Amino acid sequence: MSDKPWGGRFKESTSLAVEAYTESISFDSELYAQDIAGSKAHARMLGRQGIITPEEAQQLVNGLEQVREEIENGSFPWKRELEDVHMNIESRLTQIVGEVGKKLHTGRSRNDQVCLDFRLYISDQMREWMRLARELAAVLAKKAGENRTVLLPGCTHMQPAQPVSLAQHLLAYAWMIRRDVERMADCERRVRVSPLGAAALAGTTYPLDPAAVAENLGMYGVFDNSMDAVADRDFALEALFCGSVCMGHLSRFCEELIWWSNPMFGFVTMSDRHSTGSSIMPQKKNPDVAEIMRGKTGRAYGNLFSLMTIVKGLPLTYNRDLQEDKQPFIDTDKTVRHSLALMAEMLDGLTFHPDRMKAALSRGFLNATELADYLVTKGMPFREAHRVSGRSVALAESRGVGLEDLPLADFQEICPMIGKDVYAALDYETAVARRNAHGGTGPASVEAQLARLNDWLQQR
Ligand code: ARG
Repeated sequence: MSDKPWGGRFKESTSLAVEAYTESISFDSELYAQDIAGSKAHARMLGRQGIITPEEAQQLVNGLEQVREEIENGSFPWKRELEDVHMNIESRLTQIVGEVGKKLHTGRSRNDQVCLDFRLYISDQMREWMRLARELAAVLAKKAGENRTVLLPGCTHMQPAQPVSLAQHLLAYAWMIRRDVERMADCERRVRVSPLGAAALAGTTYPLDPAAVAENLGMYGVFDNSMDAVADRDFALEALFCGSVCMGHLSRFCEELIWWSNPMFGFVTMSDRHSTGSSIMPQKKNPDVAEIMRGKTGRAYGNLFSLMTIVKGLPLTYNRDLQEDKQPFIDTDKTVRHSLALMAEMLDGLTFHPDRMKAALSRGFLNATELADYLVTKGMPFREAHRVSGRSVALAESRGVGLEDLPLADFQEICPMIGKDVYAALDYETAVARRNAHGGTGPASVEAQLARLNDWLQQR
């Protein structure tokens, strides 16, 4: 007979190749704390409901505590032949507490158990994502506050478009990260819902109290349908999506930092602590952290799609395919946590070069829109003003100078409505200072954004 916990009906023992192929202990041992917490809550509930005696419940709880200590001090005897974290823990528990250990699984299946563990695990990890993301948003807000008066070219199509303040540019990312936190918080409310009591798929005959277990575990509620509870992994998909969007934001910022630190731009210098060198070219200082983060973003997207594909087409309810749900999340989790923390650290160590940013303003006619707006204030329709400004750009370009360098006579030849007050309008600082409409790059708008962000950062 097979010596597996489920081996009653088996005559032969499992092939070693199958054991190696089907095990999940090599990665789901990561969920041990959630498995133990879930089992303790389940045991207590069994005791309160009179399904086991209160003494038995206490023995199980004490035994589970000992298992936790053994795992944490490294003496726990993990066994691959016991397949997964659930059976490893239950089997050791039974060695410790004796026969009563075999009562723990009453009214429960590994199908609802694994789903509970995974939900708790994701929720715990996502709370850490939110904490780290808030810290990053705080660094962004701090750096924005320090760089209110620094201007640089704002781009569309990676081409110079209009001048903006560095604060506005950094705050753009702060708002993205804030939405990431809000998205994670919203998702986490659906993740932290208990499936315990669904049992294998059809519910149970024991008078369980799923709501009490959920409350005990600090969860927001309980499942509604036992088949749904053990079959679906939408909670994990949502979490992977939240992580993917967040990584996408970080990756875009990485891309900009990579450009900005290129000597051709020279907008920033990354600290030595966050750069690496080349083994052949002595002068090199490479932005490898930003590049790896951009690369890891691809892997995080892959994890989302791998689980999407695993779930697709699965009939109800639990199928062993679902065991493949954990590695994608464990991998994305590590990526999101490390990336958020490193981005905050890297940003804090960044030196900005306002002089280089300012010098870049005079290349690319970033004040061409100002010229058009200037003519509009003189009464010219915008479309016409756009053409006049375009002709002025063409002239300045042919001479290799900026709009602000064209003599008044040349302007007036193109359009007599242009007066000498045009030079004030063409000033880059003025262009930024005038954009105080809601959400714009003007100083008052930046101030208001900072106030709103800081309010949010203060909330718990
Ligand atoms: N290791 C399994 C998993 O991660 C636990 C659930 C096993 N359930 C089963 N019916 N074989 O999905």
